[in-house]
Amino acid sequence: MGGLSRRNTVIEGLRKDGPVVVLDAGNLFWGRATLRDTERAQQLEKARLLAEGYALVGVDAMLPGAGDLALGIATVRELAAAYSLPYVAANLDCGGSNPFPASVSVDRGGQTLTVIGLVGNSAKEPGCRATEPMAAARAAIAAAPPGVIVVLSGQKVQEDEALAATFPTVSLIVNGQERKQLERPDALSNGGMLLAAGSRGKQVGVISYTLTPGATKWRDGQALQQFADQRESYRNRVAELKKRQSEAKDDPTRERIGKQVSFFEGKLVEVEGSLTDAATAKEPAHRVTNRLVDLGTDIADHAATAALVAKAKVAIQAAEPVSTVSALANSPFAGSSACTGCHAEQAAQWGGTAHSRAWSTLVTAGNERDRSCYSCHVTGAFHPDGPQDPGAVAGLEAVGCEACHGPGKAHVAKPPTVEMIAKPDVSVCVDCHDGKQDGGRFDHATYLPKVTH
Ligand code: HEC
Ligand code: HEC
Ligand code: HEC
Ligand code: HEC
Repeated sequence: MGGLSRRNTVIEGLRKDGPVVVLDAGNLFWGRATLRDTERAQQLEKARLLAEGYALVGVDAMLPGAGDLALGIATVRELAAAYSLPYVAANLDCGGSNPFPASVSVDRGGQTLTVIGLVGNSAKEPGCRATEPMAAARAAIAAAPPGVIVVLSGQKVQEDEALAATFPTVSLIVNGQERKQLERPDALSNGGMLLAAGSRGKQVGVISYTLTPGATKWRDGQALQQFADQRESYRNRVAELKKRQSEAKDDPTRERIGKQVSFFEGKLVEVEGSLTDAATAKEPAHRVTNRLVDLGTDIADHAATAALVAKAKVAIQAAEPVSTVSALANSPFAGSSACTGCHAEQAAQWGGTAHSRAWSTLVTAGNERDRSCYSCHVTGAFHPDGPQDPGAVAGLEAVGCEACHGPGKAHVAKPPTVEMIAKPDVSVCVDCHDGKQDGGRFDHATYLPKVTH
């Protein structure tokens, strides 16, 4: 949710530099095609916040992804209507009709951009299905005014490639379904470019393009620089190897290094060729670059969005039901307080660590019932028999003994006959110290001594 506020800061910043078209390639509200009933209420509140946050700075076209449709088409339509979200989908059929227009044309900076939506067939929402994309694309392309054509795609990349091969006028395809990220645009067979959005809520992709009069093809604006960098690196490599070759003590070594030298000299010739081709290309081309901006804490919060987020937090927390049953009932977990009697020393040491305070940290932040937060701030959420809902953690709050040593109810009943995990290894730590949520601070060598007892 911090991502939403920083995203809006980035968008408003870009607008100061020139005309901006804001697109969303789908799966804004949810990342997967299915949504469990227990997850629904809270996700709905988050969806409402995201929709409101998008509306705050404006958005020009959005694709209903499989994850958005998992909330139910009725919900997506309701949010679209409430916040004027410009969904486009050329090949969507929900109960015999298409709830959204096939495309939208945006005039900005003296240019016209037509954005066509193509959903993939992974949506599991029972009321909707994807229809044949090629026919739908053909009709939408035929109806488009002159200008640049962009497709927002929820399809597989191979399907995007087939689309490009069929329709030469599709210039850019932005895929929101594939997990892979494309920092640099991938060339399509029709001379267009394929881009993938960054990771959900953590990055925003900034595509910049310059149109060249008379051009039909597109070219990666960073290619020249990349070839030049490669040439530099091969040159250095060859020079270094030649030096080592001259210092070699015997013939076999000299020969072995010689082979490496020829290999890199070959590469150098290749990249010099590519560089010349790219630099002297006669065919005029439009230039496109893609940049992924990390929505890290170095980006300032967007004040109005941050206020929305703060307000929504209350509704999000309230949407999560709180169970009156202790998480320890019918569970293999005993809770940390069951261990103290026999392991007073370890318990005292643990009591002084951040782990014992992990739950109160979350409560202070006002996120203890947030589904995207609780799992690493409680005990056992990664275990199939541990707490699976943030409202059902009573008795297992904070990172307790069993988060590292495994469930201990059987051990408590029969120590030492039933053994515990004696030396939890690094694989236990990285469930939570995952390199993303913790800001990449984890270093096993320095962290471990702080938690052993
Ligand atoms: C169930 C999730 C979880 C597991 C497993 C876990 N941690 Fe943590 N760890 C946390 C959380 C959450 C915090 C922050 C708690 C707070 O500040 O409220 C934390 C904080 C820490 C800190 C304190 C960092 C600081 O500078 O204040 C250290 C050190 C640490 N963990 C080491 C480890 C090691 C080593 C392992 C594995 C043996 C491990 N953790 C396993 C969730 C976990
Ligand atoms: C994937 C596991 C994981 C999830 C999910 C998670 N946290 Fe944490 N959190 C950690 C770990 C690990 C630390 C300790 C990081 C360190 O100090 O090295 C931590 C530390 C914190 C801290 C202490 C201050 C800081 O930033 O170090 C706060 C506050 C916090 N988390 C809040 C949240 C909130 C709010 C959410 C949900 C948006 C959340 N956490 C979700 C693992 C997680
Ligand atoms: C962050 C992970 C973590 C948590 C939480 C944790 N331990 Fe440990 N514990 C370890 C590690 C790692 C070792 C192994 C230490 C070693 O190899 O020296 C260990 C060792 C032990 C041992 C073996 C004897 C010893 O002291 O080396 C006992 C007993 C123990 N822990 C009990 C507990 C109890 C009781 C709690 C809760 C009050 C607890 N631990 C919480 C990681 C943890
Ligand atoms: C009734 C006393 C008792 C309780 C309660 C108890 N333990 Fe133990 N525990 C023992 C004994 C006895 C041993 C074996 C001797 C030793 O290493 O101290 C042991 C050993 C361990 C070890 C070392 C590895 C092993 O299995 O030998 C760990 C880790 C451990 N306990 C964790 C826990 C945790 C976590 C809890 C709470 C869920 C807990 N114990 C509750 C008595 C107890």
